[in-house]
This record gives sequence, C-alpha cells and structure tokens, in this order.
Amino acid sequence: MNSAPLDSAASGPTPTSTADKIADLRARHAEAVTQAEEVSAAKQHAKGKKTARERILELLDPGSFVELDEYVRHRTTAFGMDARRPYGDAVITGTGTIHGRGVAVYSQDFTTFGGSLGEVAGEKIIKIMDHAMKVGVPIIGMLDSGGARIQEGVVALGKYGEIFRRNTQASGVIPQISIVMGPAAGGAVYSPALTDFVIMVDKTSHMFVTGPDVIKTVTGEEVGFEELGGALAHNRTSGVSHYLAADEDDALDYARQLLSFLPDNNQAELPSYDIKTELEVTDLDKKLNTVIPDSPNQPYDVKQVIELIVDDGDFLEVQPLFAPNIIIGFARVDGTSVGIVANQPNAMAGTLNIEAGEKASRFVRFCDAFSIPILTLVDVPGYLPGTDQEWSGVIRRGAKLLYAYAEATVPLVTVILRKAYGGAYIVMGSKQLGADLNFAWPTAEIAVMGGQGAVNILYRGEIKRAEEAGEDVAAVRTRLANEYTYNVASPFLAAERGELDSVIEPASTRVIVAKALRTLRTKRASLPPKKHGNIPL
Ligand code: HXC
Repeated sequence: MNSAPLDSAASGPTPTSTADKIADLRARHAEAVTQAEEVSAAKQHAKGKKTARERILELLDPGSFVELDEYVRHRTTAFGMDARRPYGDAVITGTGTIHGRGVAVYSQDFTTFGGSLGEVAGEKIIKIMDHAMKVGVPIIGMLDSGGARIQEGVVALGKYGEIFRRNTQASGVIPQISIVMGPAAGGAVYSPALTDFVIMVDKTSHMFVTGPDVIKTVTGEEVGFEELGGALAHNRTSGVSHYLAADEDDALDYARQLLSFLPDNNQAELPSYDIKTELEVTDLDKKLNTVIPDSPNQPYDVKQVIELIVDDGDFLEVQPLFAPNIIIGFARVDGTSVGIVANQPNAMAGTLNIEAGEKASRFVRFCDAFSIPILTLVDVPGYLPGTDQEWSGVIRRGAKLLYAYAEATVPLVTVILRKAYGGAYIVMGSKQLGADLNFAWPTAEIAVMGGQGAVNILYRGEIKRAEEAGEDVAAVRTRLANEYTYNVASPFLAAERGELDSVIEPASTRVIVAKALRTLRTKRASLPPKKHGNIPL
C-alpha cells in the first residue's frame, strides 16, 4: 500500500464529518476534472486540437461516459517527478455508449507529461482493455502521446508490452479502433498497428518508428514530420491508416459510423436495422443494366454498382486512398451489415497488386472474425505484372488474399461483373475457394487469360498467315479475340458446369444478393481443429 501522505486538493483541516468528506471529494473531483480541463483546453485549443476529455465526450452518446481511475496518480520520484502528481495521470479512461451500445475508451492527454505512457497510465489502459474483453465491447483508443515516459524507463516499456499482448489477444474477439490525434512515436505506433482500424487526423497526427532527427543522424536523409508520418503519408502510401479525417470531428464521426456496422464482439449478433427490402426489381435497379461499357477496356466506377446494391446506397469505404484498385468497406443489405470487396476498374484497370491483396485480405479476415458476410464484386484483368511486384514478394504477399478467402467461414456471395481472369478469378471469392453463392452478369468473361493474350498464343499461325496475305491484322485479332471471349470466356460455360450458381441480369442483383444473404444467415461452417494457421506474412 502507498503510505505517502494524502496531499489533498482540499485545503484546511482533515475532513471528519460526512459533509466535509463530500466537500473533500468535490474538491478533488474539481482538481481532477474541472481545473485540469481548463489548463488542457488552453494548451490544446491553441494547437487546434481538442482535449482528451472533449474527444471522449464527443465520441460517446451524451451523458453516457463513466470515468474510471480518475484519482490514479503516478508513483515516480526520479527527475523530481514527485513534485507533480496530477490526478488521472496522462490518460482518461472509461466506458460509455455509441448508438446506445456499450464501448470502452481511453484518451491520452498530451497536456500531462506529453501524454507519455508511464507505469500508471499504462495500468489504466490495460485495465480498460481488460474490462472491454470481459464484457465483450469494442475498445476505442484516442492517441496523442510522446510515447514511453522517458523518466520511467523500462517500467514504461513493459507496460507497452502488456498493451501489445492485450491488443493481440483481443484481435478477433472485440473490435479495436485507434484514432491518432497527435504524435504516436517509436514503438508506441504498434498498439494502433495491432488494432483493426486506424483513423488519423490530417495535419495534426503523426506516426513513425524513428523520427526525422534519428533518420538524419543514421542515414543522412532529410524528411519532415508530415512527409514522413503524417496522415496523408499513412493513408496513401504506407497503408497504416484506414481513414484520413479532415479534422477531429470528422475522425470521431467516422469511428461512430464504423461502429454502427460492427457487432459488440465475435459472439454477438450483427447490428440490424429495420429496413424494408423491396424484393422486386425497381426502376433504380435497372440502372445496373447500363453500367458495363460495351468496350471491355473502358473503365467505370464500381462504387456505383455497390451503391445500387446496398441499403439506401449507404457505403462506408475503408482505406479509400490506399490501393484504390480494390475497394473495401461496409454497407447493409436487408438491414444487416455486410463487408464489400470490389475490384475498381477506374484505378489501374482493377488489377491486383501486392497492396490491393494485403488491403483486401486483412479486411476479409476482419469480417470473418466478426461474422460479417462478405459480398465480392469481381472485375479483374489479372495480377499486375513486373519485376517490382515479383521482387517485392507478390507470390508470398499475394497469397494472403487466397488464404483469407479460403479460411473464411462467413457467408460469401460473389458476383462477377466483367473480367475474371486467371489466378485473379480464383482469388476473388471463387466457389472453389469456398464462396457459397456465385453469380455472374452476362457481361462476365471468365478464363485463363483475356482475349488479346489468348489470341497471341492460340492463333499465332493464323495471325502470321493474315500478315502474309496482307489482311487487316488488327481486325483479324479483334475478331478472334471476340470469338474466344464468347466461346471460351462465356459465363454460361461456368454456369453449365455449376461453377456459377446462375447468370443474372444486372438489374436483379440487389434482390438476388439480398435473398442470397437471407438464405445464408443460418450457414454453419468450421475449420479443422488447429492452434492457428500459418498465413503467409
Ligand atoms: C516524458 C515527454 C515525452 C516522453 C514528451 N514529453 N514526450 N515526457 N516522456 N516520451 C513532454 C515534454 O517533456 C514536454 O514537457 C511535454 O511533453 C510536451 O512536449 P514538447 O516536446 O514540448 O511537445 P512538441 O513540441 O509538440 O513535441 C511532441 C513530440 C516530442 C514530437 C512528441 O515531445 C518528442 O519528440 N517526444 C519524445 C518522443 C519519443 O522519442 N518518445 C519515445 C519513443 S520510444 P513539459 O514539461 O516541457 O511541458 C517509445 C518506445 C515504446 O515510445 C516502446 C514500445 C515497445
């Protein structure tokens, strides 16, 4: 037990009566919350940032926050730290609700020791994580911290280790969201990295393992905070972050929206909204009949397809700036959450590359862990060719998406819109990998390769003869490619073999997907018993 004298906020004689004790409590509470908040607000607002407490109150439903460990104080004496022992230390933790459903939160207070994580700040975070796991609710961390508390040395590092272990154990059990709203430096970045979703605020948040000064000393490279680890860099280039928030309000709003699609934990029901699904084809559905251009090389925006299939056209995209050649995100069909994976012909013709594979595989695994059905929309000409991809490990890293789909036991519905070539056909939720219901539009082309590529190999002799005969070679190629596409790549060949469950009119997709997901609600599937698999990393 700490035998240090109680340096009370309440001045005056030792309180003995009930009224005095309540007054003492009020004084301490005022010191912990009201007075601390005034100091924090002055500092944070000057930087265009909210205080740790303001962030929590804005994130949660009004009046729902219950603070824990308000009176925790550090026990460090080194470096004269005992001269300042603020209540709560450098993090605020507690419980509350979002959309009426329970969550656990922590929010680092940069105005107290730079939000740094020492022994007791670490213990507070660990305690709230344990609570979230015990009651099975999502945990949302708001990060604004200089990292491990330098004055506390190995004790601070140890607490990070305990947090990382809990992040890992909670993975796939409760949803974990990190909102980075200031610095997250050094090893401290690894707690967000272990969580399911990382939201960063433009201009005011930074994440890096080694900062600009160290980089300059070690490698001579000169780079600024923003370029190195700003929100844009991590959303567009590294893929560490899943959403680039314009400001703190936007970040908190995105987190709330995200949670509206997620269950409380891996054993809880999906949130369901009372939406009356029209099970007849509507005029709006008919727009789907005109989405696919006549020319197979002409791009289009697959998001229009998504928006026409899901409830109210409401699609929450995840990681929109990273690997835009694949789209991932959440929507609802028939009032219930669904994860969407779709090739995007508007970006790199929808080819699969390493980034797209990794982006989609982590998303598929998230959905599978939380029993969120997955709708896959396919229009993929193949893997991106090149030494850059091969030497960067497209074999090893591309295998992740195969692995993710093949181990998924949630309902999987796939619709092939247009191209589905080669290995990319297999990986994008094919029946052979385990999808439950597979459909194709009549515009689908399913084959080992595209028409032009196949003509080069299959009709070499015929092209040569046409050249020698002085014929229009381009016209011959096009004719042969069209014949190949119709005769070999036709979706009816796949349907004939039962590898597709049906070829459907685009306009009927919304209704068919809704019915497919209804019938799959009672799906039961399991994997062979094992400690865990060994996904290629
Ligand atoms: C203790 C810290 C601190 C830290 C900041 N402060 N970081 N105190 N431990 N890690 C304190 C400062 O002393 C200062 O106190 C106050 O917080 C505000 O800091 P400033 O430097 O004035 O703020 P700013 O200019 O905005 O710079 C923010 C910053 C910088 C970029 C984060 O403070 C910084 O570089 N801090 C150190 C970052 C770092 O290297 N951390 C260790 C990472 S390694 P006063 O009293 O003056 O207000 C790590 C290992 C984790 O975290 C390992 C996991 C396995």
